[in-house]
Amino acid sequence: MECSVWAVGDYASWGDRFSEVGTNLVAVVGVEGLDVLDVATGHGPTAIAAARAGGRVTGLDLTPELLAIARRRGDAAGVRIEWVEADMTAMPFPDRSFDRVLSTFGAMAAPDQRAMAAELVRVCRPGGAIASTAWSPDSVYSKIGGIVFGLLAVDEEPNHQANEEPGPMPTDWADPDAVRSIFADLPVSVETTACTVTVRWPSADALLDALPEFGPLAWAVEELRTDGRWDAARRALTEMLVAESSSDAELVIDVPYVLTLATLHG
Ligand SMILES: C[S@@+](CC[C@H](N)C(=O)[O-])C[C@H]1O[C@@H](n2cnc3c(N)ncnc32)[C@H](O)[C@@H]1O
Repeated sequence: MECSVWAVGDYASWGDRFSEVGTNLVAVVGVEGLDVLDVATGHGPTAIAAARAGGRVTGLDLTPELLAIARRRGDAAGVRIEWVEADMTAMPFPDRSFDRVLSTFGAMAAPDQRAMAAELVRVCRPGGAIASTAWSPDSVYSKIGGIVFGLLAVDEEPNHQANEEPGPMPTDWADPDAVRSIFADLPVSVETTACTVTVRWPSADALLDALPEFGPLAWAVEELRTDGRWDAARRALTEMLVAESSSDAELVIDVPYVLTLATLHG
């Protein structure tokens, strides 16, 4: 899986705006005294929340630049966490290693969703729980991606067939029916809960100025700039962001996501 995009820019400055999702996830599953894995930990917010709540935590990610930030922040917070650089689709842990397996906006990106679910189940102990979050298709992050990649696709996919089947999407992990089929045939009971997290920016302009700092979109912004379409993209993005905001004084957006809890049969 392409991962170096996460080393571009400053993902932590984006992720910090919704880090309470990890704190909530930890509170939902309970981690005190338990072995906890945070899959695709990034700059470590969920792993650090779990360690603060008394878990024995391992944080795994494929991007060393983000793991370095996670390590610094964990040390500053005075918590002990084992940081592991590895691929979440083939994790270097024996079967049944953890009581809790968490992933905030990480596992959702795996290209083979059912294989990812099986890997999460493999490392979790019977009676344990897997808890993950995924942005909903109508979240502001999905809409930003839709506008930016939609503009690029106009030129880059001239032969796109209207009846072509779309492939798996990360937002499938926010669709209760899709989640059930992702975990089908695995020894788990699955529940999904619709949630929101409020993110704040000083203004739409401030968010858009920071867009090149969000690694997965940085190249797309650059491409739109190069071919002179960034101003039009920026106008469309501004209009969408202002419509999403519940405040005129700053940008305040309730972002929907879905929390999936898969409990392993004992
Ligand atoms: C949206 S960020 C989420 C980071 C963090 N969990 C959070 O809540 O902010 C996605 C993370 O997935 C990681 N990632 C992507 N593909 C991966 C893979 N195959 N194995 C491990 N980590 C991966 C990236 O490095 C990045 O840190």
